[in-house]
Amino acid sequence: MELIIDAIKEIAHRIDEAIKMEDLGYSDSSNSSGEDQLKLDVQSDLIIERVFAKVSSVKNLVSEEKEGVHHLHDDGRFTVCYDPLDGSSLVDVNLSVGSIFGIYEGELKAENLVASAYVVYGPRIEMVMATREGKPTLYCTRRNHFETVGEITMNEKGKLCAPGGTQKHWAPHHKAFIDGLFNDGYRLRYSGGMVPDLHQILLKGGGLFSYPGTTDKPDGKLRQLFEVIPFALMYEQAGGQAINDKGMRLMELVPSHPHDTSPCFFGSNSEIEALKNAYGV
Ligand code: AHG
Ligand code: MN
Ligand code: MN
Repeated sequence: MELIIDAIKEIAHRIDEAIKMEDLGYSDSSNSSGEDQLKLDVQSDLIIERVFAKVSSVKNLVSEEKEGVHHLHDDGRFTVCYDPLDGSSLVDVNLSVGSIFGIYEGELKAENLVASAYVVYGPRIEMVMATREGKPTLYCTRRNHFETVGEITMNEKGKLCAPGGTQKHWAPHHKAFIDGLFNDGYRLRYSGGMVPDLHQILLKGGGLFSYPGTTDKPDGKLRQLFEVIPFALMYEQAGGQAINDKGMRLMELVPSHPHDTSPCFFGSNSEIEALKNAYGV
């Protein structure tokens, strides 16, 4: 696992460099979810593939930007599922973006996630890593090196609300719940990049990030293996909760296809309990 973490640190520096140096335009291809790929999406994917090719404990890679499984090492133990550049459409307006990694052992389902990590490319590079034991660890870069900052613990209740999805397609009970939070004094924090949005809620103690099922996207938008499940581990280990619209822990998801999505809610305990009430689950 140590070597995988070192690989993610190397990847973080390389992708950060690519973001700063490379062409921001579109490639002429689209990914498995039918989204147009930026040249940076494709390049970040390639950076990750090349770095993990040197890590013998990695058996397979599954990328948001590729269909199917990319095989690396016969004797490897882990499959790394990743979103190379999350929020990539925000690069051209110079907002923060990220990379997300889920490290699975065995069949690709939440129960088999052994660790997860994400990187935030903002004014500086930060990384958060979680395993099944203990609190997530925050690392910041100083003079191009990652330094451990400490453990992340969420409060019982927060003040921030990041409501995803197109509002005109929200269900009435979801709209009523989010309106209720704002009426209670919650502050809107939504950049459109799940990495910085979830990172902000984690580091500022709590609140709620939601990406519900909507009339246009009944299963939400965020992908289980590379986006939803890795962050579910982070939130649970930090003392918060992560559930779907049926009240099921996201850490119990079993995707039937690598690119399956799920409605998802991440937050501190108080907001998730209130959400369960509002959804009647
Ligand atoms: P990606 O750039 O990897 O396709 O993912 C973007 C995701 C996520 O970061 C964000 O929370 C969500 O898409 C935003 O979606 P909306 O545009 O529907 O707000
Ligand atoms: Mn993404
Ligand atoms: Mn992406």
